[in-house]
Amino acid sequence: MAEVAGVDPRELEELAIEVARLAGAQLALAALERDHLGEHARQKSSATDLVTEADIAAEGLVVEALLGARPGDAVLGEEGASRAGSSGITWVIDPLDGTTNFVYGYGSFAVSIAARTEEATLAGVVFDPVRNELFSAALGSGARKDGLALVRPAPSSLDHALVGTGFGYLAERRAAQAGLLPALLPAVRDIRRSGTAALDLCSVALGRLDAYYEAGLAPWDKAAGLLICREAGCETLELELDGVTGATTVAAPADLIGPFCGLLRDAARRALPASRA
Ligand code: IPD
Repeated sequence: MAEVAGVDPRELEELAIEVARLAGAQLALAALERDHLGEHARQKSSATDLVTEADIAAEGLVVEALLGARPGDAVLGEEGASRAGSSGITWVIDPLDGTTNFVYGYGSFAVSIAARTEEATLAGVVFDPVRNELFSAALGSGARKDGLALVRPAPSSLDHALVGTGFGYLAERRAAQAGLLPALLPAVRDIRRSGTAALDLCSVALGRLDAYYEAGLAPWDKAAGLLICREAGCETLELELDGVTGATTVAAPADLIGPFCGLLRDAARRALPASRA
């Protein structure tokens, strides 16, 4: 891939890999030392939306390391890091995606780092320190898992598809998201809710999931994972669904994404009250 904004996307990928591994190691250590829920977790947008000292410390480490290497870049981080830059590159950071998993010691969590311009995401890295798996991609140069080329295997048919999803933190949004499930569940193999959107997207790229959808994701939840999906050969799009607030992010292999979006639209219509359907 040619240089964009004066930089080779592969160089941004390499830097993000190095930094994500550092932050992941710090989080893994914090997870071992973690006290039970409540000690170090505070509420954010709702009673179920948590932030921990580990989130904040990891964001500090990521920002310092990225700006140490590239002082002219801008930053947008989930835990509040925000800084304008002069290079045309913005780092979009979720230092700890899967905070609830982290707090409960349940399943995986991840560091997600993407570099983007106003036009495109150039590089993305998602590191899962629990499974020690690192997903990465650079625009036009493919996706990788632990440094080896990652190409999405052939998808299952819709009725055999394992579908990942997630739910937002606001009660009203959750209720609308739950409304899709009665029509969705009988039409696919099953549903999974891993608790980390960044890893869900990597799972679609890898073939651990056949498709993924979620409404209302923040840029830091999805920037890196979406590039990894696309560079692995999947398609991604933002869908407006009747009765669901916020765009629904969808990722799936090319053969599956059309029928899957049709199913989501149908499920959303069926969930509407009779007066609005
Ligand atoms: C959350 C996770 C979760 C998704 C939520 C996200 P956080 O991010 O990715 O899977 O369903 O929408 O907000 O809060 O753990 O960084």
